[in-house]
Amino acid sequence: MKIIPSGQTLGAQVQDIDHATALSNDALRTVLTALGKHGALCFPNQTFDTAAFAAFARRFGDLEVNVANKFHEPDFPEVMILSNRTDPAGKPVGLNDAGQGWHTDMSYSKDIALANVLHAQAVPMRNGKSVGETQFRNMHAAYDELPDEVKHKIEGHTATHDFEKFWEVMRLRPGSHRARLTNEQRRKKPPVSQPLVRIHPLTARKVLYANPGYTMWIDGIERSESDTILDYLFRHQERADFLYAHHWAVGDLLMWDNIGTVHNAVADYMPNEPRYMRRAQVMATLDYTSLLQHGRDGLA
Ligand code: OGA
Ligand code: MN
Repeated sequence: MKIIPSGQTLGAQVQDIDHATALSNDALRTVLTALGKHGALCFPNQTFDTAAFAAFARRFGDLEVNVANKFHEPDFPEVMILSNRTDPAGKPVGLNDAGQGWHTDMSYSKDIALANVLHAQAVPMRNGKSVGETQFRNMHAAYDELPDEVKHKIEGHTATHDFEKFWEVMRLRPGSHRARLTNEQRRKKPPVSQPLVRIHPLTARKVLYANPGYTMWIDGIERSESDTILDYLFRHQERADFLYAHHWAVGDLLMWDNIGTVHNAVADYMPNEPRYMRRAQVMATLDYTSLLQHGRDGLA
């Protein structure tokens, strides 16, 4: 396996890896270490089917089945479809507006995600170049670069994250197909508190864990002060040197770190420029510290 860093703040290509065979313990460790270090790993030219894709993702942790989503591969509720395609009757075949705004997947959930894995089946092209890029920001670097007084101010604090915040932003956009969340859906996704600074399980370094998509307020302080601090943190995240963009090609398998990055899908393509991604959300359900030290066999 060869890992080639992008030379930017995030991003690396993983080459010469055969997904047809199960990842060995050593390979798993190498990939996890690279994920913590580079945040977004692209395995180009992958041809595996839905079952192999799900099996690959499941090596890293349990897969989420999203309750608010009705689009998944047949027989694979854990493999979501992101697409702007429609069937011959004009019905959407996938979720067509996923991730359009800066966020971190599953930060609204008590059990957080380790990584999201997307496998590109169709990529919109214009004038020989792909459109519909996915952007990432480096939350290890964002934390490191905070002024000391801000680090002290946020250390030990939690913030409330709410699934409905991002849902409502998307629902109120012109042309949205999203309905209001039902009480049942709301009950399944109650707001949760998350530490603002957390130790990344793959790097043992601190990351800034807050995102404009889901973070509502800092717990236990005045709302106006909370607004001021969150506004500061979100603007700080926008620094150009924290940004990395993945430009897609068909066959790319992109795995990104959902603890040490925030991301955003750029919707700059048209309905007649098809995009189709398989998606699996890997929950942070394993003891990664132990996995990195002893391999999967060492896990209880
Ligand atoms: C997601 C997401 C981005 C994209 O799947 O959670 O944000 O570019 N996707 O499709
Ligand atoms: Mn997302």
